[in-house]
Amino acid sequence: MSKIFIDACFGKETPYTPVWMMRQAGRYLPEYMEVRRKAGDFLTMTKNPEMVAEVTLQPIEILDVDAAILFSDILNLPMEMGLPLRFEKGVGPVFEKTISSEEDIEALDPKADEKISYVYEGVKKIKERLPENKALIGFAGSPWTIATYMVEGRGSKQYAKIKKMVYANPMMLHRLLAFNTKETIEYLSKQIDAGADAVMIFDSWGGALEKEKFFEFSWNYMKEIARKLKEKYPHVPVIGFSKGVGLYMSEMDGEFDVIGIDWNTPMDYALGIFKDNYTLQGNMDPTRLYSKSATKEAVEKIANIMNGHRHIFNLGHGILPDVPVENAKFFVDYAKEYSKKLREQK
Ligand code: CP3
Repeated sequence: MSKIFIDACFGKETPYTPVWMMRQAGRYLPEYMEVRRKAGDFLTMTKNPEMVAEVTLQPIEILDVDAAILFSDILNLPMEMGLPLRFEKGVGPVFEKTISSEEDIEALDPKADEKISYVYEGVKKIKERLPENKALIGFAGSPWTIATYMVEGRGSKQYAKIKKMVYANPMMLHRLLAFNTKETIEYLSKQIDAGADAVMIFDSWGGALEKEKFFEFSWNYMKEIARKLKEKYPHVPVIGFSKGVGLYMSEMDGEFDVIGIDWNTPMDYALGIFKDNYTLQGNMDPTRLYSKSATKEAVEKIANIMNGHRHIFNLGHGILPDVPVENAKFFVDYAKEYSKKLREQK
């Protein structure tokens, strides 16, 4: 049985536009909160393959999305490189130890991709239970985005420490990014070997860089990951998603099958640039999920623009914790229903 999500990644015709949501395994689901309560905390949950499988599959069962995304975090990999991680209430992720010198980079564990085997165990368990027509998306952070946390220690507004490196010590930063890239290629390869049907690279903070620096310090490394993966796994779609880079898109290329579009970038603008060279994934503003009529309006607008073109429905960033499940379900159902109707009108 074919998977409609995978078909859409490769630009094949599908009966409707497949849909999933970033952060779909998360706190807006009471079923997720129940597992998290049992685990005690978020990181413990990510290290327990049985729980990983359970919460990854929840959105498939509850919302009938076309793809499941592995439940984990982009920061598990740097944690396994030897940087202890904790999630602080009201702050988010915090690394106590950060990268500020060549010695710090040398001390990073090049076997992180092996130590993180709980992720691969989770992938195997998910695949045992995932319906055949649904796809499993594995993922990693981009080398640049994980480096921002490794250098800053936590989420940042100014990125002063890492941007200081961009301009004052670029060779050292390239060394860190090359290390992250190599680990990420191994990490995603092992996720694919364990059964991931597609992989996505999250570059949430690409937009913190000016144009030339974005290509030099982020996109080029993402391209290298895509190139190496496609060489080994031509049948596995690779999704690239950099946030906040709409104005840089005319120069973005690479061996991706799918490009994620954030909600600041109008879909018709992105389509004008990328044409049908890639499948575009996105891009409803996640706060529209607070209102069904606002959701309906955006679904129709996006579907009309993308009608006849390569598209996967998603949000333009992650779903927020206080969105009613009913509204998330409405988005998923309506995106399928409306895109199906458009195809039938042809
Ligand atoms: O999309 C999914 O459902 C899959 C799982 C997933 C999570 N994080 C689970 C998570 C994915 C793909 C991520 C990616 C991630 N993590 C990114 C890139 C995408 C983006 O959102 O820009 C980034 C920057 C992170 C780092 C991170 N993890 C932050 C900043 C936070 C705290 C902020 C928050 O939303 O609470 C996390 C925690 C996190 N990762 C949660 C989940 C479900 C919430 C943990 C909880 O309290 O249960």
